[in-house]
Amino acid sequence: MTDVVPLGPDRLRDIIDVDTWGFPSAIPVDEQLDWPSPLPWGRTYGIEDPSQPGRLAAFHASYAFANTPVPGARLPIAGLTWVCVHPQYRRQGMLRTMMDAHFAHCLDRGEAVSMLYAAEPIIYGRFGYGLGARQVQLTLPRGAALRPVDTADVTVRIEHFDFEAHGALVARLHGAVERPGWVTRPTDAHQRSFLSEVPMRKGDFETLRILVVERDGDAVGYALFRRKFAWGVGGPAGIVRVVEVAAEEPAIAHVVWSRMVDFDLTTEILTPHLAVDDPLFSMLVDYRATKPVAQDNLWVRLVDVGAALAGRRYRSDVDVVFEVTDEVIPANAGRWLVRAMEDQEPEVTRTDRLADIELDVRELGAVYLGGISLVELAAAGLVTELTDGALVQASLAFGSHRAPVASWVF
Ligand SMILES: CC(C)(COP(=O)(O)OP(=O)(O)OC[C@H]1O[C@@H](n2cnc3c(N)ncnc32)[C@H](O)[C@@H]1OP(=O)(O)O)[C@@H](O)C(=O)NCCC(=O)NCCS
Repeated sequence: MTDVVPLGPDRLRDIIDVDTWGFPSAIPVDEQLDWPSPLPWGRTYGIEDPSQPGRLAAFHASYAFANTPVPGARLPIAGLTWVCVHPQYRRQGMLRTMMDAHFAHCLDRGEAVSMLYAAEPIIYGRFGYGLGARQVQLTLPRGAALRPVDTADVTVRIEHFDFEAHGALVARLHGAVERPGWVTRPTDAHQRSFLSEVPMRKGDFETLRILVVERDGDAVGYALFRRKFAWGVGGPAGIVRVVEVAAEEPAIAHVVWSRMVDFDLTTEILTPHLAVDDPLFSMLVDYRATKPVAQDNLWVRLVDVGAALAGRRYRSDVDVVFEVTDEVIPANAGRWLVRAMEDQEPEVTRTDRLADIELDVRELGAVYLGGISLVELAAAGLVTELTDGALVQASLAFGSHRAPVASWVF
């Protein structure tokens, strides 16, 4: 059995080297070593080649998303990340070994849920991750019209992004968003890495800029963005890449987007990936002109089914027994009663009562954040209703009044 060993900062060079094997990069390892690193030491693990001790073959890490919104509550969630196996060792079971270790670490740390962004969507379903949030990215034409909103009480500042001047307001406003799955950068080092000028963030765009929305002198929202200047055959053809938006009120969202679509010498505005119910969709006069691209956002794994189901709230009264299968973490398998009143602490227990709904833990992960419904999964043949009415009742209860999304790729 291959051992999964903890990796410390002394192994950073080996980690970056393996990373560039998994994710090919034109930038030499030595140069990447100088970049600010978000790697969470104490939560980074690897596998060494058994026949060449000291040679790193694979590694992974997980971020401590301590205070992540889930429907009606906030929970500590593990954010699986930096998963990589050197091509020489791939398809020999190293990922599977690392996933077993990750789940054991989650249970030790009291993290009942693990979430991730998948490099390729085919990889993680086999480990019990369900697609729990979808995202949409738009390419807006310059001058895209928005329906009117009263923005009289807010003003904007547009500035070079400066970590010392803006880091705290970004952390505060981003952390205040109440949307399931909306994870924040967990450490100052991580925040600095995300907001840095490393080539993978900057590309051939300008340095990071920020639009700060203020009310009575207080920052109440922001957009981070970068532009690229270009001339096309027909004249200016610049692009605006909007990196992240925190805008929790209509006036803030309206002022952000009306400014983003109105920079001189630009023709296209790329949005960050948005929740499927982002207010921008309803503000736009012509959604059809925005070239939407839909994609998977968060993959969700209930590592401890009982604790995960007890850790969120339910949108309406529910009293349903789930028969759960889980080949990877058999301790989760069996019958679970979920009984709750609307928005109250639920009762989640093992039960001998007959099951009302049968499903795999993957599907339970998919519905956990409230953006994918049990009815939708049943229509796809992935969930079976055994008691009439149980599916609709549970589907309504598991729903969220806001669609889940993570605003950045981790
Ligand atoms: C994806 C990656 C981590 C898989 O690691 P690995 O050690 O080869 O995976 P394992 O050998 O443990 O495979 C476990 C199972 O997943 C399957 N699998 C793994 N990666 C897969 C992929 N990219 N496509 C399809 N199936 C895949 C394997 O076939 C195997 O299936 P089985 O259990 O039915 O036999 C590795 O190939 C890699 O590092 N790729 C490049 C970087 C990357 O994409 N990382 C993921 C970031 S989210």
